[in-house]
Amino acid sequence: MRNTALKFIPIVAVMISSQLFMTSALTAQNASVATSQDSMLVEAAKNYKSVCASCHQEDLGWYKTRKWKYGKGLGDIATSITTGYPDMGMLSFRNAFTKKQIQGLATYVHNSLDREKEEKGIDLMDKNRLPTEKVFLRLDTIATGLDSPWGMAFLPNGDMLVSDKQGKMLRFHKKKLLGEISGLPEMVVAGQGGLLDIRLHPDYKKNGWLYFTYSSSSVSKEEGWNTTLMRAKIKGNKLVEKQVLFKALPDTKIGHHLGGRIAFDGKGHVFVSAGERGFGDNAQDLTNDCGKIHRLNDDGTLPADNPFIDQAGAKKTIWTYGHRNPQGLIYNAETGVLWESEHGPKGGDELNIIERGKNYGWPLVCFGINYDGTILTRDTIRAGMEQPITYWIPSIAPCGLAFVKGTKYKGWEGNILVGSLRFKYLVRCELDGNKVTHKEVLLPNIGRLRDIEMGPDGFVYISVESPGMIFKLVPVE
Ligand code: HEC
Repeated sequence: MRNTALKFIPIVAVMISSQLFMTSALTAQNASVATSQDSMLVEAAKNYKSVCASCHQEDLGWYKTRKWKYGKGLGDIATSITTGYPDMGMLSFRNAFTKKQIQGLATYVHNSLDREKEEKGIDLMDKNRLPTEKVFLRLDTIATGLDSPWGMAFLPNGDMLVSDKQGKMLRFHKKKLLGEISGLPEMVVAGQGGLLDIRLHPDYKKNGWLYFTYSSSSVSKEEGWNTTLMRAKIKGNKLVEKQVLFKALPDTKIGHHLGGRIAFDGKGHVFVSAGERGFGDNAQDLTNDCGKIHRLNDDGTLPADNPFIDQAGAKKTIWTYGHRNPQGLIYNAETGVLWESEHGPKGGDELNIIERGKNYGWPLVCFGINYDGTILTRDTIRAGMEQPITYWIPSIAPCGLAFVKGTKYKGWEGNILVGSLRFKYLVRCELDGNKVTHKEVLLPNIGRLRDIEMGPDGFVYISVESPGMIFKLVPVE
């Protein structure tokens, strides 16, 4: 159990397990107060565990999802404990505990509510030397005030392009916002849709092609929208020579599961991920584009060696199928392997290796349970369907993928980084070939982690949303 009592310990920054990062700066003056508070909370934690946890969950999760009825102030909570709600199933604890113990329990519950705010601590983290298993990190804030920075791409001169889901493409020079790129295509900014990923062609220096995904309508917004892949060039601060290369059809008005990540294999192909748009059956049906990874020549034409090119009725761009919502896609040029991460249902998020023509099983095979708690499928293995390299239960909601290149981060070489929207952290996975041998949670509570990129300077850049920010991870001695 996370121990909230620790927040009263007078230290500047503590790393509590690798899970929880908290900061607190108390002066020596109130340290004695802290000690009595501290012991009160230690006792409360024990009482909570033995008496309340059976109904309200040991991790206090019950309170977080609760629509509070009787008030969540410290006094209200103490009253609830004192009076109980016998008709509703909670007895009065008036005689079971002293007033002081009830006060302690109320404080214990109350602290858990505030914790998210306290844990944020980004400003403090910025200045700190964050301990991790292998290196110490400093967070260098590159950009703030963004909405949802979905993708980042570095131009040859070091400028950074950022795609903000709200439909803006921004250009930064170091930490300075130079302005907005104009001439973006018409897009539908709704639900999880808007401007999504952004990537440069591997030969960008020579050909100037910039690729990006966004949601757009084939007919009208009233009829729905799809995940679209476009390429264009930048002239001044304007997009020119725009070409729509691909649309993951059919359009639908369902606002989620758009996929939208782009990857290049450096052999003339571009991959784009498309989510199943909330219809699991799409993913197994080769006659539509949803729930698939697609492969095109980088000019948008069809590669002759795509797996379903000769199958009647099948969409010819399909490379793999049986995907739910793939929001991470990265090609490892050193090993020639394409990696993907996708959102499973509640539980069962996956990290996959993507291989030609294969079926990744959704919705027939997965490790998840549905959001209503029913078991989605008891089959986690089926003949002819791929197993994930690793999976996460509970769901971390993975987004963004990057391989650590270079030698800046000692002990991270060749690791794969996975972002978590839900738990607001970064996961570092150590690999042995194609096996994940170890996972470490980094930067707990940094924010809903959207994208991860290796910069041309050899540093890892991450973007988080609400509020939208970009950080550079700088190893320090
Ligand atoms: C046997 C189950 C049970 C136990 C044990 C129990 N509670 Fe409850 N508690 C409930 C139920 C059920 C409710 C909701 C009552 C309602 O909805 O009217 C509740 C409500 C509450 C509320 C009010 C929530 C709101 O919406 O305002 C608080 C605070 C609370 N409990 C704290 C505690 C604490 C602290 C303990 C341990 C000392 C505890 N409870 C022990 C079942 C329990």
